[in-house]
Order: sequence, then structure tokens, then C-alpha cells
Amino acid sequence: MWSKSFLLFFICNITFILASLCLDRPDPLRLDYLERVSCPMVKENKTYSNSRRNTNMFNLTFTCGITDISLCEKVKNAFESAEQILSDAIMFNQFVNINATFTNICVAYGACTSISSGIETQVIGGAGPSRVMMLKDDDGVYRFYPQSLVKQLGNKVHPKYSDYDINAIFNSEGVSYWFKGDGNIKSDQIDLEMVILHELVHGLGFLTSLNDYMHDIPQGLTPYVVGIINNSGSNYHFIEATFDKYMSVVPTGQNVSDIIKQMDVFNNIQYSNQDNFTTTFLSSPQYNLATDLFSKATKSNSLTILSGDDTIFLETSLTPFNSKSSISHFSSKKYTNTSDFLMRFSIERGKTLQQYVKMGGNYANGPIGPKLRAFLKSLGYTILDSTSNAQTSISTTISIIELIIWCMLTISLTNIITSCFIEIDIFLYEKNNAFKILKLGSHLIGYSA
Ligand SMILES: *[C@@H]1O[C@H](CO)[C@@H](O)[C@H](O)[C@H]1NC(C)=O
Ligand SMILES: *[C@@H]1O[C@H](CO)[C@@H](O)[C@H](O)[C@H]1NC(C)=O
Ligand SMILES: *[C@@H]1O[C@H](CO)[C@@H](O)[C@H](O)[C@H]1NC(C)=O
Ligand SMILES: *[C@@H]1O[C@H](CO)[C@@H](O)[C@H](O)[C@H]1NC(C)=O
Ligand SMILES: *[C@@H]1O[C@H](CO)[C@@H](O)[C@H](O)[C@H]1NC(C)=O
Ligand SMILES: *[C@@H]1O[C@H](CO)[C@@H](O)[C@H](O)[C@H]1NC(C)=O
Ligand SMILES: *[C@@H]1O[C@H](CO)[C@@H](O)[C@H](O)[C@H]1NC(C)=O
Ligand SMILES: [Zn+2]
Repeated sequence: MWSKSFLLFFICNITFILASLCLDRPDPLRLDYLERVSCPMVKENKTYSNSRRNTNMFNLTFTCGITDISLCEKVKNAFESAEQILSDAIMFNQFVNINATFTNICVAYGACTSISSGIETQVIGGAGPSRVMMLKDDDGVYRFYPQSLVKQLGNKVHPKYSDYDINAIFNSEGVSYWFKGDGNIKSDQIDLEMVILHELVHGLGFLTSLNDYMHDIPQGLTPYVVGIINNSGSNYHFIEATFDKYMSVVPTGQNVSDIIKQMDVFNNIQYSNQDNFTTTFLSSPQYNLATDLFSKATKSNSLTILSGDDTIFLETSLTPFNSKSSISHFSSKKYTNTSDFLMRFSIERGKTLQQYVKMGGNYANGPIGPKLRAFLKSLGYTILDSTSNAQTSISTTISIIELIIWCMLTISLTNIITSCFIEIDIFLYEKNNAFKILKLGSHLIGYSA
């Protein structure tokens, strides 16, 4: 009945290992593969001086799998240019490590062009956070934080970091990229720097946890489902992502976080197996909260994220719901031709990042628009104003990282996780799409031939 199983992890609190619950996604092309990893709390010795303005705060490990050295160099430069844009917008206290690969994805990873319903699709690539960590937020709610954000908060004691904060891979074949210095962009070309920049913002935590983890055809939305097992059965928690803390419903203004709290009432009840929980949840009044959220996610202007006084409308106009494009993007209708164009799920081909900035009104701080800046600040990043020397916030989002005592049961994760919440984006290229549209991030890219 619900062949798609939950994102489910078993934890117990019997033995004493100081650790957080961390999830890794080793392969940026396999959306459905997550590993629960041991991430014990470690104590940091280093003191980080911040305020390294004008320094590229990304540490790029770049592997180029093709022989065209000059193309490799251009891709690397596009990464570095996108990294510099983010380094100018955000004050990073610690380097953000990226593992990036540019290669023929079809040959190297078997992700090849495919034709479905007459539409030819091609993987352009993917990128996203390598690790997320469950932490107790300052409002007492547990949320999954992207590692790159946890790093910036400067806590001396933190869950063990993985070597990389962001994994990225882009395809060297079948896509015509435009790079700075190439002359005029052609109508079918993509400015790779813009795609990289969009993806890195997802990698920094611009991602919702909301999805339908229980049905193949989405009809209700929940955050991640975490199972906690002990000798007498399992209980289940709904645990959201940092992003979701700021989400609210229009027109009631109700916090999605509060809705999730109302949903999360099964954690004191023991279920003998997952189906028992699912049956209970789907027939409970709480499930109405999930279907209400789903209807909001498929109705224009129904979900917002709030950052200070700023309201950002999320992409909720797509039907059917698409877990890669819906919610985790700015509304295309609202923000096309504005300074906040970057995080829409789709863009037109044939325009460079700089042309987009110009179309958006030449925002002084560049491609990271004012609303996106305000939201990154809410998430906990310290935002810099490139037009002055002032910084617009100091990260104080999480006051305490509470140590969580978990016993890690070693169980096979086979068959347990089929849905990912680390939304590493997959790009697909739709050759026969009727519209001249490039969808960014995990999304379809299409254009009219
Ligand atoms: C911190 O310093 C101690 C002693 O100087 C050392 O044993 C330990 O390995 C260091 N930890 C890290 C994470 O570098
Ligand atoms: C940059 O990444 C490399 C490869 O992971 C790592 O060895 C190095 O320590 C990193 N540098 C910094 C400053 O984090
Ligand atoms: C870096 O990414 C590539 C491509 O996803 C992967 O094959 C490789 O194992 C990664 N390296 C590390 C050290 O994680
Ligand atoms: C298992 O967890 C439930 C709910 O947290 C608790 O009521 C029960 O006593 C626990 N049973 C055992 C054997 O620890
Ligand atoms: C939503 O959450 C924020 C932050 O926790 C809080 O300030 C605000 O009052 C909440 N709004 C509602 C409608 O509950
Ligand atoms: C729990 O699940 C088992 C097998 O999946 C089923 O036989 C049983 O009736 C279920 N119990 C409840 C209370 O739903
Ligand atoms: C955005 O601006 C471009 C060029 O100025 C124009 O062609 C396009 O129709 C505009 N799109 C929307 C949705 O306003
Ligand atoms: Zn995206």
C-alpha cells in the first residue's frame, strides 16, 4: 500500500555514546541513498578568526574527468567565481569544503540520457549538503542542520564533521555551457556559474524536509520520519529541517513548525512495525494536517518563509507536486525579473548570470538578492553588505547545541530509506519541451528545439 518506505532511522537511548544523529549522502547522483553515520560529539581545539573579507571561504576539491584541460579550467573558474559571490555575501568563520567533479556522468555513473513520454532527459548534475545533523534548536525543537551551517555557529563541541560540506557533480557531455569570456551567450546555452551558485545555496541549507514519505503519488506532506526503537517496539518522530522553522501558511499565518508539533504526537506510542505506525497515522486526525500542507504546497502563494520583516513566497504553483522543485524555491511568478531571481526552480536559457542581475534591477549586492540574504541571515549565517563595511547580523540562531545521548544500533538500512531529504539536485535536460525553460536544481531543464 505504501511501497515507498519512510526515511526511518532506529535509535535508542540505552548505551551512552555522545553523538548526534547524522545522515550522509555520499553520491550526489543517487537521490535515494542516505547513510546514517556515527557522528560523536567532538571538541574543537582551533579558534577561528572571522571577518576574512574578500577571501574565498570555500575549499574546492575539483576533479575533472575529461581530457579537455581548457574546459576543466573554465568549470573550475565558474565554481570559484560562484564561491566568491557567496563569500562576499556571507561571513564564513570556517571554510566550506566542496567535493566537486566534472565528468561524463553517463560513462562514469551510468546516468545517461533517457527518453520518457517523448521527452529526452539528460542529467546535468547534482549538488547538495554532504551531511546533516540533528540538533536541538533554541526553541527546544530538534531540527536537521546542514553541516556547513553548524560549522559557522562556532560551537567548540559539535558532531563530527564529514570531510566535505557539499558534494557536487556536473556533466561534461550533452550540455552547452557558457563561461565568462566566451563572448555572447547562445540561446541554448546555460551559464554554469549561475547553476553552481543556485546549487551551493541549496547546499547551505535552502531545503525543506516536507515531502510525502508514505505514498508513491504525493498527497500528504510530513517532515522526515525518525523511528526510535527499544525492546518493546518503536516510536516515531517527525523531525523538520532548519529551513522549515521559518515557514508559515497563508492566509492564516500559522507556523509550519507548530503544525509539525501538532503532527508529532506518536512519539510516546510503541508500534511493533512501520506498517502499524503508518496505518495509525494515515487514519488519524493528524493526517489531515499533512494533507492540508500538501494542498498548500500545490496552490499559488500559500506558503512563505519569514525572515525578519520580509516575507518570501515559496514555489507552490506546481501541479503535480514535485518534491525537487516545489517548496524549496522562491516563487517563479513573484520573483522573475526581480533581484531575487536566483532561487527560482526555473530560468530561461541564453542569459548569463550578469544579465539576470541586470534584468532584476542591478541589485548592488549582486546575484544574492535582498530576500535571499535576509533568509540566509535567519538561518544563522552572518550577512555582509558588499556596498559597505558593515555586517548585517551576527549568527545567534542556535544558542546551545545540546548533547544528545543516543545509542546507535547497527541495523541494515537497506529498504528503510528510499526518500532523500538531503536534496542534492539532479538536473535533467528535456530536449522536446514546448517551453523555453531551464529548470534549476534537481529539476528538469528543457527548451524548445
Ligand atoms: C586537540 O588537542 C589535543 C591536545 O593538544 C589533541 O590530543 C587532540 O587530538 C586535538 N583534537 C583535535 C580535534 O584536533
Ligand atoms: C581543504 O580540503 C582538503 C581536502 O579535503 C583538506 O585536506 C584541507 O584540510 C581543507 N582545507 C581547509 C582549510 O579546510
Ligand atoms: C568526491 O565526489 C566524487 C563524485 O561524487 C566521489 O566519487 C568521491 O568518492 C568523492 N570523494 C570523497 C573523498 O568523498
Ligand atoms: C520503550 O519506550 C517507550 C516510549 O518511550 C516507553 O514507554 C517504554 O517503557 C520503553 N520500553 C523499554 C523496555 O524501555
Ligand atoms: C512563528 O514562530 C515565530 C518564531 O518562533 C514566532 O515568533 C511567531 O510568533 C510564530 N507565529 C505564530 C503565528 O505562531
Ligand atoms: C500490526 O502489523 C501487523 C503486521 O503488519 C498486523 O498483523 C497487525 O494487525 C497490526 N496491528 C495493528 C494494531 O495495526
Ligand atoms: C522579464 O524580462 C524580460 C526582459 O526584460 C522579458 O522579456 C520577460 O517577458 C519578463 N518576464 C516576466 C515574467 O515579466
Ligand atoms: Zn533548486
